[in-house]
Amino acid sequence: MHSKTGLRPESPVSPRNPARQQIFSEGGSLSDSTSRRNRGESGRPVESVVGLHDTSRLFRDNSLSNRSPRSKVEEGPAQSTGLMQTAVQPVARLNNGVMIPRLGLGVYQSPPGQVTQKAVEYALKVGYRHIDTARIYNNESDVGTALRKSGINREDVFITTKLWNSDQGYETALKAYDASLERLGLKYVDLYLIHWPVQETRDQSWKALVQLLKDGKARAIGVSNYTIQHLTGLLGRSDMIPMVNQVEFSPFLYQKQLLDYCEKNKIQLEAYSPLTQGEKLNHPRIQEIAKKHNKTPAQVLLRWSLQHNLVTIPKSVREERIKENSQVFDYNLTTDEMRTLDSLDENFRNSWDPTNMP
Ligand SMILES: NC(=O)c1ccc[n+]([C@@H]2O[C@H](COP(=O)([O-])OP(=O)(O)OC[C@H]3O[C@@H](n4cnc5c(N)ncnc54)[C@H](OP(=O)(O)O)[C@@H]3O)[C@@H](O)[C@H]2O)c1
Repeated sequence: MHSKTGLRPESPVSPRNPARQQIFSEGGSLSDSTSRRNRGESGRPVESVVGLHDTSRLFRDNSLSNRSPRSKVEEGPAQSTGLMQTAVQPVARLNNGVMIPRLGLGVYQSPPGQVTQKAVEYALKVGYRHIDTARIYNNESDVGTALRKSGINREDVFITTKLWNSDQGYETALKAYDASLERLGLKYVDLYLIHWPVQETRDQSWKALVQLLKDGKARAIGVSNYTIQHLTGLLGRSDMIPMVNQVEFSPFLYQKQLLDYCEKNKIQLEAYSPLTQGEKLNHPRIQEIAKKHNKTPAQVLLRWSLQHNLVTIPKSVREERIKENSQVFDYNLTTDEMRTLDSLDENFRNSWDPTNMP
């Protein structure tokens, strides 16, 4: 495991906590680093662009039917603004009709208080309309504060938060959701995710999330760190297909089988740690491609995830990087470049590997 911080609140188990580690015993490997495929090879940007006005209309057009046409990237005209404009939001349509901005700001390891508030405020100012937080990040209240300070309408911003492992279970999940709403200062979140597939409690947690969706309390629900095995189990035991699966995903962890599975089952895949937490930005192939397009390595990694039809949620607390990370809608990687990037897969992870979680 690659670790920069030592302590990883994102990790479901602590190596120092054998009791909890027992929950996740051995299982089969699902990664396929040998077979490759390239999407995003067309000559035009893959994301759609709709005006903010349209986006808010689409955000409100929330059918709760879970069997609508497959999750897909909305078609739209090419964008060449460079900086993501406040009036422009590339979106994907989730399987219940809810629109999700293709680029969001992640706030994992973004310190609570002013740092997170300023980062979120700045992101909203330069056009981000999607913020990804979690109970365990300890900064939900800062996300809410920044949103209110921004003056942007609530319905124009997509907010995700997540159910932490110790809160999993039916009643506990419902309570945890209310507590998250309270910290955020919101009446609903746009997407509520089960953070990790905890074996004993995840099915009960999922029932709670389905209830939240049916009651109109959350606009979309999903899972995170689910492998094909976890998803297959869930689909076999529930009528409700998750709208999203959020997993670690980068050229260095190109989970092609999982991506194919999610596309087939109308589950939108979201890439976390799309910048490899900065670990691979100096890789010579990334540098070369960046130079060719007059872009930065971070912009190449983000573009790669977008051209694989993912929603991507880079984190930064620095204004210049928050802006830089949004300037990814004005160019395309070529088919050859996508192939080159695909071939960098080495099962590199920053977070825990859920493959062996039963
Ligand atoms: N569901 C899950 O289990 C899970 C797990 C991990 C993450 N996530 C979500 O995914 C989000 C993103 O993942 P992540 O935070 O792990 O990693 P990431 O976005 O891949 O990388 C963030 C790191 O890269 C640096 N960085 C950002 N932009 C940069 C740029 N343009 N050039 C150079 N360095 C740059 C940041 O530093 P500065 O802040 O100093 O700029 C930070 O150290 C998280 O914030 C969280 O919302 C979810």
